[in-house]
Amino acid sequence: MGGRVSPESPKGRGTFRDAIGIGLIGFGTVGTGVVRILMEKGELLKERLGAQLELVRIADVDLVRPRDVQVDASLLTTDAMEAIHHPQVDVVVELVGGIEPAKSFILEALGAGKPVVTANKALLAEAGEEILRALEETGVDLGFEASVAGGIPILKALREGLVANTISCIYGIINGTANYVLTMMERERLSFQEALANAQAEGYAEADPTLDISGMDAAHKAAILATMAFGRYFKAQEIYVEGIDRVDSKDILYAQELGYRVKLLAIIKGGDRVEIRVHPTMIPLDHSLAKVEGVFNAVYVEGDGVGPTMFYGRGAGEMPTASAVVADVVDIARDLLKGVGRRVPPFSYDKLDREVALKPMDEVVTRYYMRFTAQDRPGVLSKISGILASRHISIESVIQKGRREEGTVPVVMMTHEATERDVREALEEIDRLDVIGRKTVLIRVEDGGGW
Ligand code: HSE
Repeated sequence: MGGRVSPESPKGRGTFRDAIGIGLIGFGTVGTGVVRILMEKGELLKERLGAQLELVRIADVDLVRPRDVQVDASLLTTDAMEAIHHPQVDVVVELVGGIEPAKSFILEALGAGKPVVTANKALLAEAGEEILRALEETGVDLGFEASVAGGIPILKALREGLVANTISCIYGIINGTANYVLTMMERERLSFQEALANAQAEGYAEADPTLDISGMDAAHKAAILATMAFGRYFKAQEIYVEGIDRVDSKDILYAQELGYRVKLLAIIKGGDRVEIRVHPTMIPLDHSLAKVEGVFNAVYVEGDGVGPTMFYGRGAGEMPTASAVVADVVDIARDLLKGVGRRVPPFSYDKLDREVALKPMDEVVTRYYMRFTAQDRPGVLSKISGILASRHISIESVIQKGRREEGTVPVVMMTHEATERDVREALEEIDRLDVIGRKTVLIRVEDGGGW
């Protein structure tokens, strides 16, 4: 299909295109999904777009590994520069992941005036400054819908559908692997390792699954969501993160008895200072987010005009993520076809220069679940509660579980609202007591506010 640009446009804007050429870099799980969609849905996309999406080059370092889709060998190359600079490539799709060489590929494409679509949350959230500068300087477009919550069009919703709203809070289950692991630990009583192995076999986990388990992948996505919502570039490194690696199945069961479910939640709250944190969180069993199971993701957003909204769908995997990538390609292709350049700013704000401070974690106020491993003798509870009281931490309920482990018993407490600093200092003191057998387990609880 060559010769996409002709000198005469029926719309009088100088160019007429009958195809949009795509250079794909990264032929892995999501890349395969993109190729599959372009092959299998070519006609539907043409009807919707009014032009053909044409794969021009596919670059990958490994062209030998078998894939589930057959492509013409002439499209394949090991040279990413070919997928960027080929004259028939109009849009570059970067699905390599990680910081380098992905960043160089994106900068190269933007520098060449070619719009880019990427799923690369780590790059945007950890080292996005150069990319943002290049976007500002070139005015070229960047699509990254697939970087947050896979197939759920949450970024488009925030950027466009909710543009009239001041965002008060976002709660997201935005790591499919972690959600799958927690669901399987609770529902199927699988061990952490068994559940993780299943998630990896399904292709949900990152190449390095510690990003999923440590909460870092969710932090990348939270940084992107917060940047979109509040108009200042937030980096993942600024965010308080705890993963699910220390979640014990005991606490999942105790949470259930108390009417809660443990989820790895990204919590973003607006206001004078923005609060962004990612950690295992107990949420009421009857909240819609508690019902989000397995690899599914959900993002709950509250805006001042719209009120509460919730977006739900598959947050990982080949086809859901590829669906978001192709959606971005189509958006960009529409602008290219109309010759209007970048119509919508990638992060919703015309400029990412708002002065918004991040609230330090020590000042965050929330409720807590604490599980003490304490000796079963008189006076122990009063020692613990005395220290909590001295730090203004008020106890809502206490349950002593009667299961003795090596001379100690689990004591579970739910607190009223307290500050992180007070809780951290109190637990440091409590864990030094000789009646305490093990480091106290702490899980934050979210169940108030405008849920
Ligand atoms: N590893 C990610 C997840 C993939 O499990 O959610 C989607 O970003």
